[in-house]
Amino acid sequence: MYTTLLTELQEGIFTITINRPDKMNALNVNVIDDLSKVMDEVYSNQEIKSVVITGSGEKSFVAGADISEFIGLDANGGSAMARKAKIAVFDKIENCPKPIVAAVNGFALGGGCELAMACHFRIASENAKFGQPEVNLGIIPGYGGTQRLTNLIGKGKAMEMIMTADMITADEAKSLGLVNHVVAAGTVVAKAKEILQKIQTKAGYAVSMVIACVNDAATNNPNGFENEINRFGACFTTEDMVEGTKAFVEKRKPVFKGK
Ligand code: COA
Repeated sequence: MYTTLLTELQEGIFTITINRPDKMNALNVNVIDDLSKVMDEVYSNQEIKSVVITGSGEKSFVAGADISEFIGLDANGGSAMARKAKIAVFDKIENCPKPIVAAVNGFALGGGCELAMACHFRIASENAKFGQPEVNLGIIPGYGGTQRLTNLIGKGKAMEMIMTADMITADEAKSLGLVNHVVAAGTVVAKAKEILQKIQTKAGYAVSMVIACVNDAATNNPNGFENEINRFGACFTTEDMVEGTKAFVEKRKPVFKGK
């Protein structure tokens, strides 16, 4: 079904593996098209409760947009490429009501770092490297990097990282708040799944509202507080809220149905 992705659904966790290891899993047109389609599947398939995005092989998560496709583009072509990826992939990931974790198993450069940042949070293997090396190519990050990196690590650090094009290690990424956990190479998908298994035991509607509210904060939505109030109220209409509060009073574990 997908020419550049491997997918696997296990216990509600859908693992998407970008599979161009000979090209460091670079995001070419085919990968962007496949990611767009696979995100539609994530939204529509009720069996999918949460998602891990990773890269194939031990070396690279995603080493960026496919540089060979930049050659010959003019200003309109460059903007169109960035806009298409934003709408077709990056926004769909960021705004997905189901939790999406990046399991960064190696290089996350340029569009790879941007892909990881569009996910709801990130786990890195100890060999992972992060960077926005676009200025080495005469361009800037175009898949949301200037915006999301600034939100995640702050203005000064984002300025330095993007202007120097320097790579940072997984440990540095953790100290900056870019990744939540650093784990041994080869265990990064397992760690992401462990966290998602825990999230899947919670009330699914509430989790989806958390994603929307935190995204409001991260994008400085002026309606963030009002949206939180309304979404808080909306949770009271769910069966899971009735179950969660009843279970607490009855001193037992809640059994959520995702309704
Ligand atoms: N676009 C297209 N092809 C890429 C790529 C990218 N972003 N990143 C790596 N590749 C390709 C290489 O061209 C090479 O292909 P080839 O074997 O047909 O020549 C293959 O992947 C392996 O990469 P190579 O550079 O030989 O591996 P390395 O271990 O020496 O270096 C990197 C790994 C990631 C440091 C290096 O490939 C790199 O700097 N990539 C570009 C990163 C970048 O600038 N990304 C931002 C793009 S906007």
